[in-house]
Amino acid sequence: MIAKIEQLLREVEALEAGNAEEVEALRIKYLSKKGAINALMADFRAVPAEQKKEVGMRLNELKTKAQEKIAALKDAFDSQDTHAGDLDLTRTAYPVGLGTRHPLSIVRSEIIDIFARQGFSIAEGPEVEDDLHVYTKLNFAADHPARDMQDTFFIDVNEQDVTRNIILRSHTSSVQVRSMEHAQPPIRIICPGRVYRNEAISYRAHCFFHQVEGLYVDKGVSFTDLKQVLLLFAQEMFGPDTKIRLRPSYFPFTEPSAEMDISCNICGGKGCPFCKHTGWVEILGCGMVDPAVLDACGIDSKVYSGYALGMGIERIANLKYRVSDLRLFSENDVRFLREFEAAY
Ligand code: DAH
Repeated sequence: MIAKIEQLLREVEALEAGNAEEVEALRIKYLSKKGAINALMADFRAVPAEQKKEVGMRLNELKTKAQEKIAALKDAFDSQDTHAGDLDLTRTAYPVGLGTRHPLSIVRSEIIDIFARQGFSIAEGPEVEDDLHVYTKLNFAADHPARDMQDTFFIDVNEQDVTRNIILRSHTSSVQVRSMEHAQPPIRIICPGRVYRNEAISYRAHCFFHQVEGLYVDKGVSFTDLKQVLLLFAQEMFGPDTKIRLRPSYFPFTEPSAEMDISCNICGGKGCPFCKHTGWVEILGCGMVDPAVLDACGIDSKVYSGYALGMGIERIANLKYRVSDLRLFSENDVRFLREFEAAY
């Protein structure tokens, strides 16, 4: 009898099952009324009285072991079953949350597209720049008051040589310089990028924003060419009825310089609060590249001439989408960004 119990004990300890049905089969084999352990119980009656105590204990031990083992096997499959029960394979999939393009990206690509169709290619330059490329080669003298036009972030100040100062670029005109240093005309480039200025953040100013710079240098480039490109840009960007006007202005790197206005795209030029009842809104700066800039960048100003233009992407986006607070562009509030879902 003891030998039989021990054999069953070993069997029970080694039990394994591949699924819930197999566990049930084992339960029937060992623990049911007609199972192996109950059969032993029946034999117990015939055990001599003096052995009853020991055999009884071993038998109980076997039964507990078998119950525990089979319960453990059952548990393993039950917990899997619970998950399987949760799965509803007929359910439709969760919608994938598609992001939206940022309004500044939308406007930037639109600007690039318009200029690309006129033969401009994209050029890029570093945001961490030196004074030489941001100011000096663009004809800003060391003590020139024009340097005050941009409130620069300084990273590394060189007391001996101001042109070696490491700064965050305050305009994308620095990319003009890099492009002219590295290539001879014809140069026809558009440079989109982020720029930095040490400004207090408010609804109308930020310490960083985005610009697009344009440059065309070749033999015989004239102000007429510039005007033609600007008119085409304005009409493609704001509609075929858009008019432009150029007002004389000053930039150290262009001579002559101008600021361009477009007829107010909100009132159509009649006058409204947005254009301060003038019918015009300013959108960019431009001019003929100053010969001193061409020469500083290794291009012979007696042979070549060029025009340049620069605009703020936020400004154009404002005109298109009327965003009243500049800070919205950099706060990534999804409620704002979702408004541009349908754009482009
Ligand atoms: N760099 C000027 C600014 O940040 C914008 C600008 C004006 C760029 C005239 C030009 C230009 O290329 O010709 O205010």
